[in-house]
Amino acid sequence: MEFHVRDQDLTAAGRARIAWAEREMHVLRRIRDRFVRERPLAGVRIAACLHVTAETAALARTLVAGGATVRLCASNPLSTQDDVAAALVEEQVGVFAVRGEDRETYYRHIQQALDLRPHLTLDDGADLVTTAHEQRRDVLGGITGGTEETTTGVIRLRAMARDGVLRYPIIAVNDARTKHLFDNRYGTGQSTIDGLLRATNLLLAGRTVVVCGYGLCGRGVAMRARGLGARVIVTEVDPLRALEAVMDGYQVLRLAEAAPAGEVFITVTGNRDVIRREHLERMRDGAVLANSGHFNVEIDIPALEDLAQAKQRVREHVDEYRLPDGRRLYLLAEGRLLNLAAAEGHPAAVMDMSFANQALAVEYLARGGRGLAPAVHPVPGEIDAAVAELKLAAMGITLDALTPEQRRYLASWSEGT
Ligand SMILES: NC(=O)c1ccc[n+]([C@@H]2O[C@H](COP(=O)([O-])OP(=O)(O)OC[C@H]3O[C@@H](n4cnc5c(N)ncnc54)[C@H](O)[C@@H]3O)[C@@H](O)[C@H]2O)c1
Repeated sequence: MEFHVRDQDLTAAGRARIAWAEREMHVLRRIRDRFVRERPLAGVRIAACLHVTAETAALARTLVAGGATVRLCASNPLSTQDDVAAALVEEQVGVFAVRGEDRETYYRHIQQALDLRPHLTLDDGADLVTTAHEQRRDVLGGITGGTEETTTGVIRLRAMARDGVLRYPIIAVNDARTKHLFDNRYGTGQSTIDGLLRATNLLLAGRTVVVCGYGLCGRGVAMRARGLGARVIVTEVDPLRALEAVMDGYQVLRLAEAAPAGEVFITVTGNRDVIRREHLERMRDGAVLANSGHFNVEIDIPALEDLAQAKQRVREHVDEYRLPDGRRLYLLAEGRLLNLAAAEGHPAAVMDMSFANQALAVEYLARGGRGLAPAVHPVPGEIDAAVAELKLAAMGITLDALTPEQRRYLASWSEGT
């Protein structure tokens, strides 16, 4: 079996890390038990481009247990846990991922994942799918379906479908309610603050934190920063989202106004050039810049490089940029996903739901996906509902049930005042 990982001597550490994560992944474990019995993925080849973390390992092991042959590459050059990558090789997963790999290696690894000639693709950000479409038409015809994990990937894939170039159906796992309402909000919220603290060890109480973007991720980050005592300012471009932020009790400003006020800036928009030169020029000495959106384009790093007179790494994950007037700006994790680069990504308990959706969506596609057209499709509602039920059951929480009268009442239109 082909693979490329940093060091196979890290296997024992990786195995321990995976076991720790799996303790929290009850839903996925239950799906795996069924996969072992039913082998729904027997003979299916899967190329996956995901953050190579312990939680992803739990998913890969589930797919292998279902009978699939899996190749895995990283969806971000800085998010790979090398010990997990090593441990997965022992599990017969062809891993091509090394933390800190350069751009060329990153894309070579994607090519190597595609060399498997997959039937299905799993993507996080759509780099695998776009590479297959642009450079690997030799394997494209054999792919019958795929899944996409994150908001940015779904946006890219919808653009491909709109332009008529998407060649196979993709299930937007991100859009399952049991994914984005929990993973994007509570997962990104907690783990981004975790990354910020591990990288800087700053006290957040009393500090002004500017959160750019009040989507699911942004509200998670804002909520957790406030929970630690930060004064939170939100910037937005969408009136509805801005209004929600206002009524959630945050100050909403234009970034130009927030720039001189903020002490920590966190972008989570999925957009590019959110923090630009004109903002950097107005920031105070010591301002910290970080991103938890998918790509490292939310902060205009070339503008920062251009503005700075000197740059030095002052701590792991912290680069100091000294401006001509003496002010220092600190960029965390090279502007890449802070929660994965400086911490360990989302806690396993939320990835349990995201990856349960992935496993069940893969099974659905492997069973033919009811002849889906080459477009972006929602996760079937029954999968979403099953994941919620299984998660509640795993937490030991039971719910009330509608009485027959209540059911009738809710279905009728004739009863009024
Ligand atoms: N770090 C992680 O582990 C992680 C997890 C899930 C999603 N993501 C990524 O985070 C990003 C955001 O995801 P989401 O689910 O919150 O998306 P979303 O679409 O729900 O929210 C994004 C918000 O940013 C706003 N926005 C866009 N451009 C802006 C600008 N210039 N200034 C201010 N606000 C702007 C939008 O109006 C929107 O409200 C995506 O790139 C997604 O892929 C990261």
